[in-house]
Amino acid sequence: MKTILVTGGAGFIGSNYLNLVVPQNPSITYINFDCLTYAGNLENLTSIENAPNYKFVKGNICSVDEIKSVFSTYQITDVVHFAAESHVDRSILGPRAFIETNINGTFNLLEVAKEFWQKESSFSEHRFHHISTDEVYGTLGETGLFTEETPYTPNSPYSASKAASDHLVRAYHETFGMNVITTNCSNNYGPYQFPEKLIPLMFQNAATGKALPVYGDGKNVRDWLHVKDHAEAIDLVFKKGKSGETYNIGGHNEKQNIEIVHLICKFVDTHVKPKTSAFDLITFVEDRLGHDKRYAIDASKIQRDLGWVPKYTFETGIEETLHWYLTHSEWISRVLSGDYQEYYTMNYGKRA
Ligand code: NAD
Ligand code: TYD
Repeated sequence: MKTILVTGGAGFIGSNYLNLVVPQNPSITYINFDCLTYAGNLENLTSIENAPNYKFVKGNICSVDEIKSVFSTYQITDVVHFAAESHVDRSILGPRAFIETNINGTFNLLEVAKEFWQKESSFSEHRFHHISTDEVYGTLGETGLFTEETPYTPNSPYSASKAASDHLVRAYHETFGMNVITTNCSNNYGPYQFPEKLIPLMFQNAATGKALPVYGDGKNVRDWLHVKDHAEAIDLVFKKGKSGETYNIGGHNEKQNIEIVHLICKFVDTHVKPKTSAFDLITFVEDRLGHDKRYAIDASKIQRDLGWVPKYTFETGIEETLHWYLTHSEWISRVLSGDYQEYYTMNYGKRA
């Protein structure tokens, strides 16, 4: 019987992962360990919150005591590690939390897991799956793709902190023989993404008549991966991936930012029908510092070794995603007003 510690399970990707795997794997228990920063939203998880194989524990990966406590209370057998500060713009404004959570927090988890699992005969039964990003590889020019062999060249405080955590995870395999896996994925999109990232931010601004701030010339390229395809890939790699390996996960959907903004404007003009076109809201603003030009993933290893291919095309995925935001205006309002943060106090706080 496995009891997996899922860190950061109340965030965007973690909640999509839990919503997928909890119902699919009734014999596995998932402990969602999350300190509920601004990005943690328990309202993303209402469909599974009463499942017998799911439990939420409020805790911080920066606290060794809290990690030790959750490991011993629930006899944790494996870790799937999502918890991180994840927004590049915030890492430019204030990198400290990125160093503390992404580097020190990952180190704390590795140390406690090592100590806890070392008491048993072997590490092989206990997997530590680290979720990382393609941003560790730096930036591409007009051509080429990131492979698992691309040298690390992180450019932002965010990607530098993720790169450091990837190296720590790798070192715990090489030095101590821990059973680790790292997956590096491209930009995710889909339901429950905090409206500070490109797609939900642009949708919300366009739908409410606010300016659409496009950084620089809007020609930077990101390679979009539907979050549900990503969640399936993580489940597969966790179960079938080879210890010590890294796997790139991408959706083969390279788009310039401006193309995405145009798509969103077209969708809003069609479905929200504002008095003036959303296209008129597009505003080119000063470029992000150190803005990486292009990301694109070569996902042939995960396809060849594990048989994973994305199910979504970008066209179906973006249409479904924009419809989700259109029909979940209540979710967006509660996030923007901060009301979502009351969910813990109302539903868990009294019991905690
Ligand atoms: P997110 O910001 O939406 O969620 C992060 C979650 O981690 C939140 O629930 C937050 O409360 C929790 N958390 C933060 N600090 C914590 C701490 N100290 N202790 C416990 N919990 C803490 O992030 P996301 O977009 O879901 O990203 C999840 C992971 O995937 C991250 O590791 C990120 O680097 C990686 N990633 C994300 C993307 C993307 O497009 N979103 C792309 C590549 C990789
Ligand atoms: P973002 O969603 O922040 O993800 P990341 O920085 O991890 O790729 O940004 C995606 C792209 O969109 C990136 O090139 C920056 C750009 N962008 C804008 O042009 N305007 C915005 O308001 C935001 C948030 C992002």
